[in-house]
Amino acid sequence: MDDPALAGDCKGFVCSPSVAGNDSLLHPPVAAKASSQSKLKLSPTPRIMSKKTLTVGLGDRSYPIFIEDGIMENIGADLAKRNIASRYIVIADDYVAELYSSTLMASLEMAGIQAELLTFPRGEASKNLQVFAELSSKLAQLGADRSSALIALGGGVTGDLTGFLAASYMRGIPFIQVPTTLLAQVDSSVGGKTGVDIPEGKNLVGAFYQPKVVYIDTAVLTTLPVEEYLGGIAEVIKYGIIRDYDFYCFLERNLDAILALRSDVIQEMICTCCQTKADVVAEDERESDLRRILNFGHTIGHAVEAASDFSIIHGHAVAIGMVTALRLAVSSGLCKRKEAGRAATLIHSFGLPTEIPAGMDRQKIKGYIKTDKKSIEGSVFYILPTGIGSVIITDEVSEDQLDSILKRKV
Ligand SMILES: NC(=O)c1ccc[n+]([C@@H]2O[C@H](COP(=O)([O-])OP(=O)(O)OC[C@H]3O[C@@H](n4cnc5c(N)ncnc54)[C@H](O)[C@@H]3O)[C@@H](O)[C@H]2O)c1
Repeated sequence: MDDPALAGDCKGFVCSPSVAGNDSLLHPPVAAKASSQSKLKLSPTPRIMSKKTLTVGLGDRSYPIFIEDGIMENIGADLAKRNIASRYIVIADDYVAELYSSTLMASLEMAGIQAELLTFPRGEASKNLQVFAELSSKLAQLGADRSSALIALGGGVTGDLTGFLAASYMRGIPFIQVPTTLLAQVDSSVGGKTGVDIPEGKNLVGAFYQPKVVYIDTAVLTTLPVEEYLGGIAEVIKYGIIRDYDFYCFLERNLDAILALRSDVIQEMICTCCQTKADVVAEDERESDLRRILNFGHTIGHAVEAASDFSIIHGHAVAIGMVTALRLAVSSGLCKRKEAGRAATLIHSFGLPTEIPAGMDRQKIKGYIKTDKKSIEGSVFYILPTGIGSVIITDEVSEDQLDSILKRKV
C-alpha cells in the first residue's frame, strides 16, 4: 500500500471523472454536475445592481477596492475626484484592449482626464523584461513623468507587469488596478505583489508596490472563457479553506448561482475574497509569516503547472495542488479524512481537476517542489489544512510521505 493513511484509495476523496472508475466515492449527482460543466458556457443571469467598498489598511498607503457591476463606465468620474495624477496611461493586453479599452477611455475622456493606451500581446509569455523595457520606452516617448499614473486594465499578467512598471518608472509613479479576470479580481490586483518572469523562473523579478485604487467590474466576467473563470474559482475556494468556514459554506450553497454568474452572489463572493486578502496583507504585507497561507495549494500546484509545461493553467494546477495538500494533511494526521473529502468534493463539483494527470512524470514534479522559490534554506513549506477554515504552515512532510501522495494511483 503506497500510503497507509489513505488505505482504501479514494476514501473521502473524489476523483476526476476521467479516472474515477468504479472506485470513486463520488456521490453520483455531484459526478453528473461536474462532467456537465466541462461543456459549461457562462450565461449571465439578469444584472442586480449593488456595490461594495473595502479598504486595504496599510497606513498612509491604504487604498479602496470598489466592486460594482458596470463600474468601468464610472472610473473616470471617480478618478477625477481623486488627487492621484494629472494624466493616465492605460496598459492592457491586445485582447482585453479590444474588449474594454473603449469603455474605459470614454469614461476617462468624459471626466476630462488626459489618457493614452499602450498594449502588448496577451499571455504569460509577455510578462517578461523585454516587454517591460518596451513599455518603459513607450512611456518615455509619450513624455510620462512623475505626475502621470498607470492603469492596469486586464488579468494578472497585465496587473503584475503594469505594477512593476509603475514601481520602477522614474523610481515610482502611482498605479490603478482594473482587474478583468476572476483570478485578478480576487487575488492578484490586491496586495501589491508585482513583477515579471525570467527564464529561470516565474515572478523572480519584482517589487512589493501597492496600487492607489482597485476598481472591480463584475460585468466583464461575462466574456471570460469558462476555463479562466474556473481557474479563478480555485483561488476563491482557497480563501474558504484557509480562513473562512462560513464562506466555504456559502460557496457550497451557491454553487449554481456562481456558475450562472448571478451578479449579487458574485459580488458577495469577490468581496469576501478581497476582504480576506486585505486582512492578511494588512497584517503581513511582505509575506514574512501569515501571508504565506495564501500559498495553499500553490507549492504542488506550481510544480504541476511547470511539469505540464504550462499546458495546465494556473488555477487548475492550484486545484490539483489543494487536493494534494489535503491528502498530505490527512496522511500527517492533521485533518480528518471526512473534512478533506468535503473540501475536495467542492473543488470537483465546480468542474476543477483534482488529480495529477496519470502520465505526468512524478520525479519532475518533485524536482520543481524542491526548488520552490518560497523554500527557506532548503526547506519546502506546505500550507496544510487542519480542517475547513484553518491551516498550518509546516515543513514537516517527509520524502516518503510526498512520494506516496504523488505516486498515488486512483
Ligand atoms: N500579484 C499577485 O499577487 C498574483 C497572484 C496570483 C497570480 N498572479 C499572476 O497572475 C497571472 C495570471 O493571471 P490571469 O489568469 O488573469 O492571466 P492573464 O492576465 O493572462 O489573463 C488570462 C487571459 O484572459 C484574457 N482576459 C482577461 N480578461 C478578460 C475578459 N474579461 N474577457 C475575456 N478575456 C479576458 C486575457 O487576454 C488572457 O488571454 C500570472 O502571471 C500569475 O503569476 C499574481
